[in-house]
Amino acid sequence: MRKKLVAGNWKMHGSLQNNAALLERVKAGVVDLACEVAVCPPYPYLAQAQSLLAGSAVSWGAQSLSEHPAGAYTAEVSAAMLLDFGCRYVLVGHSERRTLFGETDEVVAAKFAAAQQASLIPVLCVGETLAEREAGLTASVVSRQLSAVLDVRGVAALASAVVAYEPVWAIGTGVTATPGQAQAVHAAIRRQVAALDASVANGLRILYGGSVKPQSAAELFGQADVDGGLIGGAALVADDFLAICRAAN
Ligand code: PGA
Repeated sequence: MRKKLVAGNWKMHGSLQNNAALLERVKAGVVDLACEVAVCPPYPYLAQAQSLLAGSAVSWGAQSLSEHPAGAYTAEVSAAMLLDFGCRYVLVGHSERRTLFGETDEVVAAKFAAAQQASLIPVLCVGETLAEREAGLTASVVSRQLSAVLDVRGVAALASAVVAYEPVWAIGTGVTATPGQAQAVHAAIRRQVAALDASVANGLRILYGGSVKPQSAAELFGQADVDGGLIGGAALVADDFLAICRAAN
């Protein structure tokens, strides 16, 4: 049985004051849940997450990292720095990083490797745009994004990683993939991994992300290959995030 994971991606939102209230509510609300819960605040708030969440049932992580270990890379943040602040997870290859910041499949694979070399758990985000879906390219785009990491890291690396399927057309749009659409892509991802290693595929957690709301969470998380969610907008509202966590329980 794969333990479900619900991770909040706060994107570029937050303030010390709002975060404190949100984190306290989330911490108190998940104590008796069987699923795993994580939050990914912006870098400057990782110290706050660490001090408020240490010893609680909620883990935390970052939204990206540098592929380099150290050096003259102004404004970048290394895996070791994230580890210093107690991060367990780090998102890699979020579609906003790919489209707005030019992260290629190769860069994403390098970031994935940097995370694992520091014992962080990368959450590899994959997903097609609306144009790609309409052109019938969903399976090939997602498979290419996954292969970019598999080719560099090998299938065994997925034993200590998480994959998040996030159709770009569903992110922040209010349009959620139907449970059937999500399940079809999740199953294809698992089949691709299973062709290399059945046991790694069986243990791999594949999250769905893209406008998950309390009303849509339970049916999505009820699909055979959907092992939880990566939550953007709804992760900023304690009641909504907690309702989504309960739906994964
Ligand atoms: P959303 O974002 O839930 O606001 O659509 C999801 C994500 O980008 O991870």
